[in-house]
Order: sequence, then C-alpha cells, then structure tokens
Amino acid sequence: MASSSLDRFRITGGCRLEGEVTVTGAKNSVLKLMAASLLAVGTTTIHNVPDIADVDIMADLLTRLGCTVKHEGSVVTIEVPAAPLHRADYDLVRKMRASINVLGPLVARVGKAEVALPGGDAIGSRGLDFHIKGLESLGATAHVEHGYVIAEAPNGLTGTAIELDFPSVGATENLMTAAVLAQGVTTIDNAAREPDLVDLGEFLIGMGAQIDGLGSPLITITGVKELKPTDHTTITDRIIAGTWAFAAAMTQGDITIHGGRADHMEVMLEKLTHAGAIVTSTQDGIRVQMNQRPRAIDVATLPYPGFATDLLPFIIGMNAVADGHSIVTENVFESRFMFVNELMRLGAQITVDGHHASIDGIPQLSGAPVEATDIRAGAGLVLAALVSDGETTVDGAFHIDRGYPNFAEQLVSLGAKVSRE
Ligand code: EPU
Repeated sequence: MASSSLDRFRITGGCRLEGEVTVTGAKNSVLKLMAASLLAVGTTTIHNVPDIADVDIMADLLTRLGCTVKHEGSVVTIEVPAAPLHRADYDLVRKMRASINVLGPLVARVGKAEVALPGGDAIGSRGLDFHIKGLESLGATAHVEHGYVIAEAPNGLTGTAIELDFPSVGATENLMTAAVLAQGVTTIDNAAREPDLVDLGEFLIGMGAQIDGLGSPLITITGVKELKPTDHTTITDRIIAGTWAFAAAMTQGDITIHGGRADHMEVMLEKLTHAGAIVTSTQDGIRVQMNQRPRAIDVATLPYPGFATDLLPFIIGMNAVADGHSIVTENVFESRFMFVNELMRLGAQITVDGHHASIDGIPQLSGAPVEATDIRAGAGLVLAALVSDGETTVDGAFHIDRGYPNFAEQLVSLGAKVSRE
C-alpha cells in the first residue's frame, strides 16, 4: 500500500454514517502468521490478508531473512529456505512492533536470533522482559546488546513451565512459537487469550504442532521435531469491526459490518448496547444502529476477553459527545492517553489523572487540525472529526494506513465527507 509520511485526512463533520462495510483479515493475526511461517521449510500460504502497510513491512523483513514473499490480492505466499538468516535489522524493526515475533521462530528453527528492539506505536514502554525470561527458561541464552535482543539455543530448546506476570500477547506468541519445536512439554500459565493468538495456535497446529488450551489461560505445547508449511485463512479483524461499530454509534448511524464477529467483541458490544445502540446479528456479521445521542458509559480496558485497549480512542471519542459524564480507565498501555490531548483540540472536555480519563460529554466537537500518534488514535481522531462542527485535518495518515485498508474510501462509501491529501 502506497503511503507518504506527509499524507493527511481532511474531514468535514456532521454526517450520519449509513451503509455496509466488509472487514478484512486481522492485522495482529496475519503479521504473526507470517513470522511463524519461518518455522517450516517450504511454501506457506495465508489467505484473507489485508492491504495494509504493516504487511509490506513484515514481507520486507522476511525477505531480508532469506524468504521469498509474494502478496497478490488477499493472498500471501512465503517460501522459507532450509537455512534462514537470523538478523532482523533496526531500519525495518523500528517501524513495527510485530517484528519481534520473528524472535521465537528463529531461535527454535535456526538456534539464533538477533532482533533490533522494536518500535511501533507511541503508546507506552512495551518491555520485552517476559519474552526474554521465557526464552531463557526454555534453555536459550538471551540478552540485549547495542539495541538488539540476542538469543541463542545452539542445542535446541527444552520444554518447561512458564508463568507470565501479565498475559502479554507478544510474549505468549513468541514463547508458543519457540516451544512448538522444543524437546518435551511446555506450559504457559497466565497466557494471553486474544482471538489473534488462538488463530496463530491453529495455524501452528495446521503445521503439525501439538497445542492444547488455546483461548484459555493455560496453554500446553508438546514439542515436535519438525513442522511443515500450511495453508491458512486469517480471522477477521475485531478491532476494525469495533471501529465501525463505534462509527455507527458516534454518528447516530446504521452500519452493517460484514465479517464482524460478535463472539470476538462481546464486552464491547455490551457496552455499546448500554450506550443505547441496537446491535443485531446478521447472516455474516453484525449491524449497529444508534437512533439517539449516545449515553456516556464507564469502561476499563483489560486483556481479552476484557474491553480491548485498542478501542480506547473510540470509546473516549464516543463519550466526548455522549449524554453524561464517564470515566475510562486504561490498564494495558500507559501512554494511550496521549491521544486525549489531540481530542481536546477538538473541544472535548476531558481530564486525565494517571490511568483514568474523566469525560464530560458535549453535543458536538469543533473541527481543528490534529495529529495521529498511532494507528488507533489516528482512526479515533477521524471518527471524532465526523462529529465535529466544520473541518478537521488529521496529520500522520501513515499511522492509519498501518492498520486500516482504504479507510477514507470506506468512510466515503458510508456517507462521510473525507478526502486524503
Ligand atoms: N509487557 C511487559 N513486558 C513484556 C511484554 C509486555 O511489560 O515482555 C507489557 C507491555 O509494556 C504492556 C502490556 O505488557 O504494558 C501488554 O503488552 P502485550 O505484550 O500484550 O502487547 P503487544 O503484544 O506489544 C499487542 C498488539 C497491540 C495490542 C496489545 C494488547 C500486536 C502487534 N500488537 O501488542 O495492538 O494493543 O497486544 O492487546 O499484536 C495495534 O494493533 O494498534 C496495537 C497496538
């Protein structure tokens, strides 16, 4: 996907969104599947791949590691050589947090990995201590040197019992993708339960891995000697589906979300219902209608199945124009509230104290120039601009491109006045 760092969105507020959208494959699943393809020699095929910038970055990274990657339409094929390289350089890794997901597969397959400390969104400190400690308990040596995580296991990994201090998505993924080729049984306690992680587990099972307990806090992995390439269809993106659900609620609109999986968004849909939305199941997704000004609702973000931290900008945006006062608490990433400063430029009445935001809803925001600081904050500002009087520009469109395919076009098809410049 072509995108320039100078691109911005220009939005004229005051539109009710109405119509249909189709949700594509989940970014936070497909990037991990691509990284995990390193575990098997040969050609792995992934379907339902979204056209987003992060997929291109992961393709470049795998190419640098010696793979041949083709991305045609919504299908990616990755041909993995018998001996991939083991170094993931800073210039690519800094662009995207998910690059760290090559760490586990490389240590397991090649016995060595050097991965630059990742960048990605400016949403918090995002440590790697769980990844490193977990690899060490699997028998690897791991340390950080000159900005790189260096992990080695020349004699292979050995299964063990791991307990995570926090159900980290990335750490669970890296340790699961390392343990599939370890000798013996590994358990990961307090594991993340996100649908993307379950999708990765099922992908690994398709490669021949033995994994039990996916979607529960205790995952058990029995190592196998070798994995084979697979053919897998990615699950749909619950955060994009959630974005459209909030877009309907905020603009008092009516959006049918094809591919939106209610079973992956239960807490969020319940919250929207409390806010006054009518949520119905359709043959292949959900429909969200809002016939009134939303009611303000209190929310605390939590690891899955709790309310997703990625949806924080949308719930705050909705509460900013809702009827009443609300408290939104962020429990996963300490810097997500950076977005609030931008929202306040649109006139939102918000006070932040630690990890709580206190919001007084007003009927309408007021258009202004603002800047996206990460993917979700960017999309959240575009939605907020829709319920603002006058014109808003959102700089940093490339952040949004990292996670939302054709965002402006989809908004226009729903009746929004949005252009890209
Ligand atoms: N953490 C540590 N040490 C670690 C690992 C994590 O302290 O070794 C902390 C983090 O600093 C954070 C918390 O644990 O405070 C949760 O981090 P987690 O590892 O669960 O998140 P992640 O794997 O870095 C993924 C998604 C995020 C999503 C979170 C939470 C990807 C590429 N990213 O991040 O998605 O918000 O899980 O669900 O899968 C996005 O898509 O915009 C995005 C940021």
